Amino acid sequence: MFERLKEPVAQMLSTPDTVDQKLQKLCEVLKKEVPHYDWVGFYFKNGDKRELKLGPYAGAPTDHTIIPFGKGICGQVAESNQNFIVPDVQAQDNYIACSITVKSEIVVPLFKDGENIGQIDIDSNTLDPFTEADARFLEYVNEKVAGIL
Ligand code: SME
Repeated sequence: MFERLKEPVAQMLSTPDTVDQKLQKLCEVLKKEVPHYDWVGFYFKNGDKRELKLGPYAGAPTDHTIIPFGKGICGQVAESNQNFIVPDVQAQDNYIACSITVKSEIVVPLFKDGENIGQIDIDSNTLDPFTEADARFLEYVNEKVAGIL
């Protein structure tokens, strides 16, 4: 599934649209094409502040448009620079709930010129669906996104 999505992802990011339009389209396509992706969005470092700001996303609106570094899964990834797979969000202490339907989450940092400038965040309504294949694919997606920033 992920292999066949790579080329369309690259193509989507090479249109003449604005960055936000391209990321919006990307979120919508990933949500639609991958059965266990129920919310797909990007958070980016908010200027010089130690906080993340919500960028384009597909799925239910969230109140968490600003997330301080260290808070929740997203805020932890902003500091750790590491992928974070959460098989069961109920087992996490430092977790920010966006919707009661969400059971699991994956966050993969986005590096531009070696700097962690944001992340892709995916929520799933399925328990424990994320594997290393998701992580590798989302690393690929973020590399492609970094190329247009
Ligand atoms: N659950 C995330 C917050 C963002 S929402 O999933 C959109 C977290 O704990 O960082």
